This record gives sequence, structure tokens and C-alpha cells, in this order.
Amino acid sequence: MTCQSAIGSEKSQVLALPPGLDVKRMPAHIAVIMDGNGRWAKARGLPRMMGHRAGVESLKTILRLCSDWGIGVLTVYAFSTENWSRPRDEVNFLMTLFENVLNRELQSLQNEQVKISFLGDLDALPENLTDLITKATHSTSLNTGIHFNVCTNYGGRRELVLAAKKLAERSARGDLDPALIDENVFAGELYTSKECDPDLLIRTSGENRISNFLLWQLAYSEIHVTDVLWPDFNDKDLLRALFDYQSRSRRFGGLESSSANQKVS
Ligand code: FPP
Repeated sequence: MTCQSAIGSEKSQVLALPPGLDVKRMPAHIAVIMDGNGRWAKARGLPRMMGHRAGVESLKTILRLCSDWGIGVLTVYAFSTENWSRPRDEVNFLMTLFENVLNRELQSLQNEQVKISFLGDLDALPENLTDLITKATHSTSLNTGIHFNVCTNYGGRRELVLAAKKLAERSARGDLDPALIDENVFAGELYTSKECDPDLLIRTSGENRISNFLLWQLAYSEIHVTDVLWPDFNDKDLLRALFDYQSRSRRFGGLESSSANQKVS
């Protein structure tokens, strides 16, 4: 699958990049682990929930910037399969927050030509939320701007097991010769089958782990970890991440790369 940023394509109108960024070395796909909402709130003597609410504002800022700067895909980790183990109040708050934000922002997503998708086991979410997810996914599906993937009830291991199960079922039905299963066939069964792999993973709040996020897709991503807590993450922090990314030499296991956007086929 081809994988390129929106720059130079007809996908969307790209605004001027900040000085110093190399237009030819922009990542096509950025993934983000938005961490540190709870700590942000605690540091201010606020309930954790206020951290999540503030995190939504950062997300809106970063989505807008990625769109303006020609990033083709933004994938964020909103709720993991492990997050159900949090206190019930927090889980309920997050589900209601997702619903309220989606209701509130759907029209501006449309106006900005954002194509939104939700990746994960969506059947386990509250019905109001899944209805809204279906509506938002359908109504933005033909939009031509940035792809915005919200990983909700997402777990990387669960995604891999599900893919293996689907391939086994296809083989058992006689629809797929197991000898033909290769990386492309496998990737075709992942939630991200329509996307290229992330070029850049950003993780906030200083934790050096990927926490069951996009285990397959991050195989060759450049990782940028910042101590900044997600609600504080702003345009300057995104710029810092992009400069860091553009300073890397991507070799994909080989010796040299002529372009930061080069992909393994
Ligand atoms: C991690 O911080 C953050 C989350 C589990 C939730 C992230 C969700 C949002 C920012 C809202 C997104 C909204 C939409 C509509 C997609 P944490 O709670 O683990 O922080 P801590 O590590 O400091 O406790």
C-alpha cells in the first residue's frame, strides 16, 4: 500500500509548514499514546477526570495541526482493553466523555473533511457510544482530509489473536490456502488494514513502553518519548517531535534510507 503525506497530493489543503521542517521528510502517519492526564490533574489538585477533559483540548489542537501540516493519518490510543480495570467512575466518565466530544465535534470534523474511524473491540462499548461511532464513521467516510483513528477498547495482542482467528477460519472454510499467508495477508486482517504503518510514535509523560499499542504496526516506527504530560502537549511539542523524527536515519533493517517516508513493501 502506498504511504505518503498529504503534501503534494490533492487530498487536502496543506498550510505552510513551520520554518525548518523538511516538507519531503514529513511522516505520513503519526500514532500517539496520550499519557499523563491523571498526573496533570493531580499536580493541580484536581480530580483525574479533569485531566481527561483537558486531554481532549490537546487532542483537538494536535488533530488540527496534523491536518494543517499534511499528515495523512493520526492514530491515537484513547482507551485500552486494560483500561476497564480502572475505577468504575473513571471508566464511566471516559465513555460519557467520548460520547459528548463526538456529539459536539462531529460537525467540525465534517467541515474539516476529517475521516474518523474507531479501532478496537467496539461491541463491548455502551450502546449510545457505538451508535454514535457508527454514525460518525459513516458520515465522514467519504471525507478527503486526514484519517483520524481513535483506538477505543483496543489491545494489540487482542488484535493479533483476532487476525490469526480470522485467517484460521478462512483456511478452515477452504477460502485461503495457509501456504499463502504472508505479512501482507496477515496485515489485511488487522484493524489498520486500510492504513500504512505509523512512521512516528509519540508517547507523552515520559514512559518508555508501548503498552500493547499497535504491536504489529510499530515494527519500524520511530519513537519519540517526551516528559510533557498529554494535557500540556502543544504545537511546540509536536514540532519538537517532528524535528526529532526528521533527524533520524530510517534504515528498515537495511543500511541506508534516502527518504524518511520510505516504506517496507
Ligand atoms: C492516559 O492518561 C489517558 C487515557 C486513558 C485517556 C485518554 C483520553 C483522552 C485524552 C480523551 C480522548 C477523547 C476522544 C473523544 C478520543 P492516564 O489516565 O493514564 O494518566 P496517568 O498515567 O497520569 O494516570
